[in-house]
Amino acid sequence: MRTRPLKVALLGCGVVGSEVARIMTTHADDLAARIGAPVELAGVAVRRPDKVREGIPAELITTDATALVKRGDIDVVVEVIGGVEPARTLITTAFEHGASVVSANKALLAQDGTSLYASADQHGQDLYYEAAVAGAIPLIRPLRESLAGDKINRVMGIVNGTTNFILDRMDTNGAGYSEALDEATALGYAEADPTADVEGFDAAAKAAILAGIAFHTRVRLDDVYREGMTEVTAADFASAKRMGCTIKLLAICERSADGESVTARVHPAMIPLSHPLASVREAYNAVFVEAEAAGRLMFYGPGAGGSPTASAVLGDLVAVCRNKLNEATGPGESAYTQLPVSPMGDVVTRYHISLDVADKPGVLAQVATVFAEHGVSIDTVRQQGKDGEASLVVVTHRAPDAALSGTVEALRKLDTVRGVASIMRVEGE
Ligand SMILES: NC(=O)c1ccc[n+]([C@@H]2O[C@H](COP(=O)([O-])OP(=O)(O)OC[C@H]3O[C@@H](n4cnc5c(N)ncnc54)[C@H](OP(=O)(O)O)[C@@H]3O)[C@@H](O)[C@H]2O)c1
Repeated sequence: MRTRPLKVALLGCGVVGSEVARIMTTHADDLAARIGAPVELAGVAVRRPDKVREGIPAELITTDATALVKRGDIDVVVEVIGGVEPARTLITTAFEHGASVVSANKALLAQDGTSLYASADQHGQDLYYEAAVAGAIPLIRPLRESLAGDKINRVMGIVNGTTNFILDRMDTNGAGYSEALDEATALGYAEADPTADVEGFDAAAKAAILAGIAFHTRVRLDDVYREGMTEVTAADFASAKRMGCTIKLLAICERSADGESVTARVHPAMIPLSHPLASVREAYNAVFVEAEAAGRLMFYGPGAGGSPTASAVLGDLVAVCRNKLNEATGPGESAYTQLPVSPMGDVVTRYHISLDVADKPGVLAQVATVFAEHGVSIDTVRQQGKDGEASLVVVTHRAPDAALSGTVEALRKLDTVRGVASIMRVEGE
């Protein structure tokens, strides 16, 4: 074993970074044996230098992250600051100064993955980011390496623990959205400002990363269609239950039927209780992959938290250190297919539509005509009347999203339709 240690700069020492430092220290001998050389924590960049950081020698702490990555003797930079800047500049500076990078930064990778890959490649360094999607769950490496010989057609997952916790509570306790969010906040599953989670931004960043890797094409955050889950109601869950379904916030990346394009989207959807994703409870994450030769695979586990996320970071650190010792690099960006990303209107799926209508003869026929005029075929209709008003629940066969939007627009114009109470896609059948 080499005795000269590999030097690691840790950028950020918060929820994830502090656990990375702890495991690096407590498992130092095992890590050295697995890598073939000792790993030394050479510096830790933070914002608040006076904060007590257990187990980290004070002399390693710095607020000058730029000087740390420019030192010239750093082999690997672990970026767990988060956000776009200064993380992006620090990562490219690290490459320029001969360091490989391990990052957990989904927001940055979804926005600038391509230029970061190019920079890593230009300087002969690695960029690994297993922790950026679904925390501890090994997903990036299985997609990028284990399934590199297969053709992936679909990746569908629950990639945000906060929203899964909220929807699970709504499902099991009959709680409303606000009540379930309050519970998630009290238990530490939701941040004070939950927007990134509940509006689907976090899941959309992960969808962009997953689609890019799965389809060997470039998918940016802006390419991902996004709907949050704040509008999901207890009534939606009651409807889902009647159909033998539950509701999940899903990230779905698909190759089109002709294989000529891909789509990436995040939205709440009904899925049958028999689908493996339906049984993913609380704040757990799971990703369901459909590949041509492998068939259906499911990856399941804790999608966040300091220790689980640090596990993924450490796995990358070991891989990158091994590459350093071998004077090699791992796989870089693979975007050779250059498939176009189609808009949401091209997505073909099923829909559950709940309408408030006048309870009088002929309404059902009127509504059915609108669906037929837009080429959306109806699977089932359920009608419930009360005091001159009625609710009409229509479940469609598979149809393009654009056709459904046209249908809904036309339905809203009917005098007999008082309102469109909810529209939800039905997936996983
Ligand atoms: N938390 C999770 O469960 C989880 C899961 C998967 C991925 N991630 C990703 O991991 C990354 C880190 O998340 P986290 O939850 O650990 O965040 P966090 O707890 O907020 O920690 C951020 C750390 O970065 C430091 N920092 C902030 N700005 C800095 C700057 N300009 N220069 C140097 N240091 C700076 C902070 O310093 P102070 O300590 O002085 O404030 C803190 O130590 C993010 O990209 C996140 O998306 C997190």
